[in-house]
Amino acid sequence: MWDSLWLDVRLATMEEGRGAYGVIDDGALGVSDGRIVFCGRRDSLPGHAGALAREVYCLDGRWMTPGLIDCHTHLVYGGDRADEFEARLQGASYEDLLKAGHGILSTVRATRAAGCEALVSAALPRLDALLAEGVTTVEIKSGYGLDLDTECTMLRAARHIATIRPVSVVTTFLGAHALPPEYDGRRDDYVEFVCTKVMPEIVACGLADAVDVFCEYIAFTAGETDRILARARHLGLPVKLHAGQLSECGAAEVAARHGALSCDHLEFLSPKGAQAMAQAGTVAVLLPGAAYVLRADTMPPVDLMRRHDLALAVATDCNPGSSPVTSLLLMLNMASTLFFLTPEEALAGVTRQAARALGLLGDRGTLSVGKRADLAIWDINHPNVLAYQVGFNPLHAVVRGGYVATRH
Ligand code: NIG
Ligand code: FE
Repeated sequence: MWDSLWLDVRLATMEEGRGAYGVIDDGALGVSDGRIVFCGRRDSLPGHAGALAREVYCLDGRWMTPGLIDCHTHLVYGGDRADEFEARLQGASYEDLLKAGHGILSTVRATRAAGCEALVSAALPRLDALLAEGVTTVEIKSGYGLDLDTECTMLRAARHIATIRPVSVVTTFLGAHALPPEYDGRRDDYVEFVCTKVMPEIVACGLADAVDVFCEYIAFTAGETDRILARARHLGLPVKLHAGQLSECGAAEVAARHGALSCDHLEFLSPKGAQAMAQAGTVAVLLPGAAYVLRADTMPPVDLMRRHDLALAVATDCNPGSSPVTSLLLMLNMASTLFFLTPEEALAGVTRQAARALGLLGDRGTLSVGKRADLAIWDINHPNVLAYQVGFNPLHAVVRGGYVATRH
């Protein structure tokens, strides 16, 4: 007997090669031991519904999608940067604020002062906003500690969150996010510190699932990035990059050379970079919240990405500076309105392609037999509504690992 069976449901499986959204009308989905054991048309069920599962749910024709995946966030941090937002409205630039010791560095000060418990408490309302929209997996980066203790504390806070909320958390070490003030004028020493002290400790404690670097003219060079990624790969961790957010500095090629899972932002991407990503199977993670908040005048070259058949993921980039965003549904809309993704590409971007960006596509991201039963159930007439509506949440219920996690 299965644990549960969901009937009278329209399935947007998001599987590739099954037509738009991978739709199965008059669908049925069976779950056992937290995994999908049946996903198909109701009339192909192997028996009578009541005899197949202990619990049978009737969804009255609602739509079901895979649980949403936010594959790029900086959800754990201290303080906020509302003042900086105001300063930018008066004309200050993101780059100049960072150079003057504000921006990321002001969040570093607040995060260093916070402690694990305060970081968790501050992150929970942001996480809860994501969960309320059907998110079942979230990636969380460090990068506001920039010292051994605080980087570890951030990652511990991220891991802890997964024990007190119904969500899978994937952690990423972003020690090379900015040069901390105590290393002013000693860039090489900081890169050396990250490679030889911090990363090995984080690996030994099992605190990170991947390593990221902010490769940018205001952060770390392609050469420095190359060194950090090589070390991460040597330590057995997958890598990804903040690449091409503000300028083109060859980040995509560096990422591809190390078989990166993803390059994120990519407002700037050369044809050579796109080709390198395609060859390496590196996902392009698009972050429309940051482009919007920073009023970017260059948008990611989505046509170039499509020409190279790159997988396109979409995420919030939730962070206190460039993207104080806690709505993944809003990102679907912005990915369409700002970046011209189709609503189907946008939804694939927060399901199948987001799972791919985390190296988890074999386990989640589509409604497929054998995958985790992470499901979102919606009061909508068509999946394109998820990208169409702005500021409206049509979530009916969430199932995580087979358990009904939230119900409206
Ligand atoms: O993804 N670009 C670098 N990192 C973040 C911003 C961090 C911040 O401003 O605090 C981003 O946009
Ligand atoms: Fe980011």
